[in-house]
Amino acid sequence: MCGIVGYVGDKESAPILVSGLKRLEYRGYDSAGLAVLHRNQLNVVRATGKLRNLENRVVAEPPKGTIGIGHTRWATHGRPSDENAHPHTYEGVAVVHNGIIENHLELKATLKGRGHAFSSETDSEVFAHLISEELKRGLELPKAVRAAITHVKGTYALAVVAENDPEHIVCTKDASPMVLGLSEGQNFVASDVPALLEHTRDVIFLEEGDLAVLSAAKAEVFDRQGRPVNRPIRRIDWTPMMAEKGGHKHFMHKEIHEQPRAIADTLRGRVLRTQGDVHLEGFNLEPEVVKGLTKVTMLACGTSWHSGLAGKLMIESLARLPVEVELASEFRYRDPIVEKSHLAIAISQSGETADTLAALKEAKARGARTMAVCNVIGSAMTREADFTVLTNAGPEIGVASTKAFTTQLVALYMLAVKLGRMRGTLSLEAAQKHLTYLTEVPKMVEDVLRCEPEVKKVARAYLGARDFLFLGRGPMHSVALEGALKLKEISYIHAEGYAGGEMKHGPIALIDETLPVVVIAPKEPKVAYEKILGNIEEVRARGGKVIAIIDEGDQHVPGLADAVIRIPSAPALLAPVVATIPLQLLAYHVADMRGNDVDQPRNLAKSVTVE
Ligand code: F6R
Repeated sequence: MCGIVGYVGDKESAPILVSGLKRLEYRGYDSAGLAVLHRNQLNVVRATGKLRNLENRVVAEPPKGTIGIGHTRWATHGRPSDENAHPHTYEGVAVVHNGIIENHLELKATLKGRGHAFSSETDSEVFAHLISEELKRGLELPKAVRAAITHVKGTYALAVVAENDPEHIVCTKDASPMVLGLSEGQNFVASDVPALLEHTRDVIFLEEGDLAVLSAAKAEVFDRQGRPVNRPIRRIDWTPMMAEKGGHKHFMHKEIHEQPRAIADTLRGRVLRTQGDVHLEGFNLEPEVVKGLTKVTMLACGTSWHSGLAGKLMIESLARLPVEVELASEFRYRDPIVEKSHLAIAISQSGETADTLAALKEAKARGARTMAVCNVIGSAMTREADFTVLTNAGPEIGVASTKAFTTQLVALYMLAVKLGRMRGTLSLEAAQKHLTYLTEVPKMVEDVLRCEPEVKKVARAYLGARDFLFLGRGPMHSVALEGALKLKEISYIHAEGYAGGEMKHGPIALIDETLPVVVIAPKEPKVAYEKILGNIEEVRARGGKVIAIIDEGDQHVPGLADAVIRIPSAPALLAPVVATIPLQLLAYHVADMRGNDVDQPRNLAKSVTVE
């Protein structure tokens, strides 16, 4: 998500930090900063917006010092601003942090009770406060960092410098990546390899719970128990472009594989299983408003519209509230019926899509309560909506949306549980069951990614096809639409997504022995499974090629299909998250094998800010 760089050596650190941050610039961010230590004094420079803004400040007044830490921010807690930019400091301690602190509100309240004043809206700032308290108790910096993180629930990659220890950077990680760069007389730390490559190719990837102490002369690593450990030094021979993609050939491939982590980040700190509730920061609908809602209107475009279709089933089923899913580009040009008892939800990765933004404004102007499900804090939609549920997927660079889609589904499921509880349509036990399902999703997604070799075989077999048909029923209808969109946008093969029941009303005319038909046929819901078996027979009878996406235990469909891809069994409403992943991989491999520019397909833009 965010980027971290740290340097200790004999050179001026500020230019090294800025140049390291530049190597992470491709991911996009909203603010940046650095803290440099000189003769026991911290010098902090921060700037909102492009890295150039920080660079200009550094060039105008270069902070002196041969040890320092820097950060580029992708906001999750607190809007982009100079105050919310890292490093955060408190009484001589400076920290940069990637990750999410789940219990930051409790920690802030406790610290405020002990007289601490906070200068940002971020969760990260609590680290500076906790560490400064431990230093005051007389602990040395490494031990103070170790003690401070015991209070924190969440994920972190953390780098710290302190005025009372001007020779060391202390860094530690749990769940967020962190890598050390080793060189003669100087050492580095970074969240990502590209930030290190111009200085060294010898790196150590820290493991969960590791804490490293860096000086100009050496880099020491300790495990979670505080025991010194020898982590292997790896020589990285990636080109800078490969490093940006974390060794993957394309951003899209990297982002497909990031989904278990992205989904876990969407869920983090929000699922209150025992209470059968969901904590959605900013959710500001009073219980009587939620009870009085008469309709939800989802407003979105493209892939985000598909997640709205799946979200409709979730909300209707769990909160018993009617949902309409509107193409934002159509909604704005008709005379829609909007009432004060409606909740309009704009769904968007970027938060900047012109049609969705205009539709959101329209719904708001006509009196609906509004919310955004969005991946970019501070974007136009998050500013426009009454409140936002962030998807926390991290920057999505490939033009074809992948992790934004699956994290939207998970966010909408959480919303459905919350609304269901507030409206009294979900019992405590039922909500607990749904929340348990949710916590199992990251692991399921990790498992489903193992189908990639099978998907590649299918891609190779059918990459010459002129058209594809995707069929799904119930919750899988949205998956069929998404699979078709993914394939057409990056492989340029014509593809249609259809609800299975609609096939005989038209598309059946297309079926002959040249047409691959991807049938998404998990066993749940049972009624949809039984019906889609009929579709498979209809395709076979006309010589079409059946590629079936089926549950791992399905014994029946393999005998009917030309190819099968197995996925873990998931509860019906969450199955779209799991079932979409092989289709993302199919589109990716077909496009790659056809030699297409996967990350930047022709004629498409990542964010459609014009009509
Ligand atoms: C497809 C894709 C687009 C976007 C659409 C909406 O892979 O990326 O269809 O989903 O342009 O964009 P956001 O979600 O940013 O509003």
